[in-house]
Amino acid sequence: MSVENRPRRSCLAVPGSSQKFIDKARTLPADQIFLDLEDACAPLAKPGARKTIVSALNEGGWEGKTRVVRVNDWTTEWTYRDVTEVVEGAGANLDAIMLPKVQTAAQVHALDFLLTQIEKTMGYEVGRIGIEAQIENALGLTNVNAIAAASPRMETIVFGPADFMASINMKSLVVGEQPPGYTEGDAYHYIYMQILMAARAYDLQAIDGPYLQIRDVDAFRRVAQRSAALGYDGKWVLHPGQIDAANEVFSPNQDDYDHAENILDAYEYFTSEAGGKKGSAMIGDEMIDEASRKMALVIAGKGRAAGM
Ligand code: GLV
Ligand code: MG
Repeated sequence: MSVENRPRRSCLAVPGSSQKFIDKARTLPADQIFLDLEDACAPLAKPGARKTIVSALNEGGWEGKTRVVRVNDWTTEWTYRDVTEVVEGAGANLDAIMLPKVQTAAQVHALDFLLTQIEKTMGYEVGRIGIEAQIENALGLTNVNAIAAASPRMETIVFGPADFMASINMKSLVVGEQPPGYTEGDAYHYIYMQILMAARAYDLQAIDGPYLQIRDVDAFRRVAQRSAALGYDGKWVLHPGQIDAANEVFSPNQDDYDHAENILDAYEYFTSEAGGKKGSAMIGDEMIDEASRKMALVIAGKGRAAGM
C-alpha cells in the first residue's frame, strides 16, 4: 500500500458500542473513522458492539472515508471473535483492521492468516483488507521494523501514546504533553522517529495517536504540529472539534502548496529541451534540482490529496 493511498489526516475514534456516536460520525469531515472494540468499549459491551459495527458498516453512508475497525489485542480472549464476526459480517464494506498493542511481527502474521481464511471462505477478494498496527509498548517499538515488514496488508504504523507512556512508566498523566520535569527537547522524539523510519522504509503511513484534552483545540493543534512537521500523515481525533484542526495541520498551507507546484513546473521546464535540459536552475534566490523536485512532490502530493 502506497503512502499516497487512503486519506488519514484525521482518524476519528468512535466507540463501537454507541449507535449515537456512530450515526454522528457519518456526518463529520474526518478522513478515517475507526469503530472501536478495544478500550472505548467495556468488556460486557463487546459482543453487542460487534453486531452494531457490522450493521453500521453495511448500512453505508461512509463515502470518502477510510473505514477501519479496531479489534482487541492478541493477549485477550476477544480478538478472534472480533475479527471473525466483523469481517464475515461486513468485510466487503471495511478497508482495514487496526490491531492494538502489537509487539511482534508474528502478531501481524496471525491477523493476516485469519483475514485470508475469512476472505477465502466468504468469497471476498483476498488481501484487500489492510492492517494498521498500533505501537504501544517498548517491545513493540524495538520490533517496529519487522512489524512494518510483516505483511503486504500493512498500511500504517500508529503511535499509541497513552498505553506507551503507561508501559514505560513515564511520569506523566497528560497524554501528548511533555512529562513534568523534562525541560530539554521532546520526550517523544525517539519514539516518533523510530515509527516514522519504519513506516517510510516499508512505504506505509505514519499516524500519531490521541490528544486527550479534547476541549483544548489550540493545544491539540500545537501537539499535532510536532508530528506533522516530521512528516506524519495524520493523527487520531477523539472529538468532532479536533477534526478541522487535524485536516488543516496535516495538509500543507496554501503558500507552501503553491510554492511546491511552482517548483515542479519550473523543474519540468528547465530539464526539458525548450528549457535547456539543465540539471539545476534558479527560482528567484532559490536553487532547485532533482532533490528539490522530490521535496516539492511530497508537499504537492499532500496538497493534491487534500483537494487543494
Ligand atoms: C491509544 O490507543 C493510546 O493508547 O494512546
Ligand atoms: Mg492504546
